[in-house]
Amino acid sequence: MSITVTPILPRFGAEVSGIDITGPLSEENKREIIDIQNRWGVTVWRDTGLDDDSHVAFTRIFGDVILAPKTRGRPRFAHPELFDASNLDADGNIVDDEHRRLTNRGNRLWHSDSSFVQERAAQSLLLCHEAPNGGPTWFADTRSAYDDLPQAMKDRLAGLEARHCYFWSRRRAGYPYTEEEVDRFPHSVHPVVHVHAGSGRKALYLGAHARDIVGMEREEGRALIEELNDWVGRPEYIFPVEYRPGDMVIWDNLCTYHRAGDFDESLHRRDMRRTTIRDPQAPDSGDGSVQAMFRQASQTDGRIAGLQDPKS
Ligand code: OGA
Ligand code: MN
Repeated sequence: MSITVTPILPRFGAEVSGIDITGPLSEENKREIIDIQNRWGVTVWRDTGLDDDSHVAFTRIFGDVILAPKTRGRPRFAHPELFDASNLDADGNIVDDEHRRLTNRGNRLWHSDSSFVQERAAQSLLLCHEAPNGGPTWFADTRSAYDDLPQAMKDRLAGLEARHCYFWSRRRAGYPYTEEEVDRFPHSVHPVVHVHAGSGRKALYLGAHARDIVGMEREEGRALIEELNDWVGRPEYIFPVEYRPGDMVIWDNLCTYHRAGDFDESLHRRDMRRTTIRDPQAPDSGDGSVQAMFRQASQTDGRIAGLQDPKS
């Protein structure tokens, strides 16, 4: 079996084929897949044949799997590792409420998964079970975007750290939090530029959850974050992936951003399930700080008109 790699952009993203990933893999194949992932940042796997079991099993080749936060309402699947990125409830009906609309709006901002906790994500593996026509995910190359920055900007960024907060990106998506309320929620701190361990290349690490630059006036920090987020979103660094059932995309949150594309989620069913690997260099919080964050978020949801009290 020989693995075929077809680049999407010259420096970023590749479609991978020629290997069956539904069963156990040789050490050599695992190594090869990890190398391809490290080199290209985003890999697209068509018609994988994966189900929930084999999705979770395959994910483990990358490292420790983060457990998903509890969803509002009854969970749709048995595996605690599966994040529900769908617009469906446990009966398979489209969920159409204000909470869903706001969450989706937040997902349409460029972001890096779980940057709002220290225990942040490395790879995310998103498997399509059902897709509308249209409803892509967009990906952005934070390594090439860094490489291409003017030297003066690279010098300015050296040593800077950003504070990230889940409630900040929710506020930007339209959740009714005040700036002072966001202040009281947990924040993480990460370097604005880091060396991506898998490739040795430097990458930007900001996105929608990034709120402030440590030690910088709030407005100045905000302007810098916005300028860099806009820079990463330039056409030469981005591409969309459209899905059919069975397709999977793997992105490395430590060298990419992503955002959900536009589609009318109140009309079309979209069933996407995600597994996530913990950054091996991040602290392991044990019970999972991502869960704690979402628990806290659901406790604040009651103030949004039209929301039922979340049960989880
Ligand atoms: C995610 C995510 C985007 C999408 O699962 O982390 O941002 O297109 N998904 O579903
Ligand atoms: Mn995401």
